[in-house]
Amino acid sequence: MSKKVLILSSSPRRGGNSDLLCDQFTMGAQQAGNHAEKIFLKDKKINYCTACGTCFNGNKTCPQKDDMAEVLEKMVTADVIVMATPVYFYTMCGQMKTLIDRTVSRYTQISNKEFYFIATAAVNHKPALERTIEEFRGFTSCLSGPKEKGIIYGTGAWEKGEIIGKPAMEEAYQLGFTV
Ligand SMILES: Cc1cc2nc3c(=O)[nH]c(=O)nc-3n(C[C@H](O)[C@H](O)[C@H](O)COP(=O)(O)O)c2cc1C
Repeated sequence: MSKKVLILSSSPRRGGNSDLLCDQFTMGAQQAGNHAEKIFLKDKKINYCTACGTCFNGNKTCPQKDDMAEVLEKMVTADVIVMATPVYFYTMCGQMKTLIDRTVSRYTQISNKEFYFIATAAVNHKPALERTIEEFRGFTSCLSGPKEKGIIYGTGAWEKGEIIGKPAMEEAYQLGFTV
């Protein structure tokens, strides 16, 4: 069955290591016949959540006029969500955290999704990325019926493009293909 796959690429480096892994995942998912779309978050204007409270009660929408409503609609309607981040000081990058915070107006509707996580880092030691993966789980633990399906650890990649030739590239393609 064809799935709707949304890939959220949060690195500020277009063509950087996590973005390349996103492309691999996207290609795999598309070649298996799914509808897969990557969003490069830097192309979007996504402001911080201001905790204004407008969305907390009464089903009011977020008053901010930026691109988050469009991204959020895609998250709500996707079957599969891929969240990719570079590791910055052993946490996710600011752009990904900003996106997560802005889901607050509709996170209760991000239900029964399959999730994949991608993290890239200079360090060549997978366990060092667990804290970042746990942060993704902090988000998914607030959702209804999430299914964590796979993680891609893009370790040992510091310079842009250094991930090319590493096993994570093939892993990302295969996970996309079998989504
Ligand atoms: C601000 C900043 C902080 C970073 N912190 C870490 C870190 O804590 N551990 C690590 O292994 N690599 C760290 N790195 C390296 C990146 O994780 C690495 O270059 C990664 O491949 C970036 O992914 P990208 O190409 O998708 O942006 C840091 C890089 C930057 C720019």
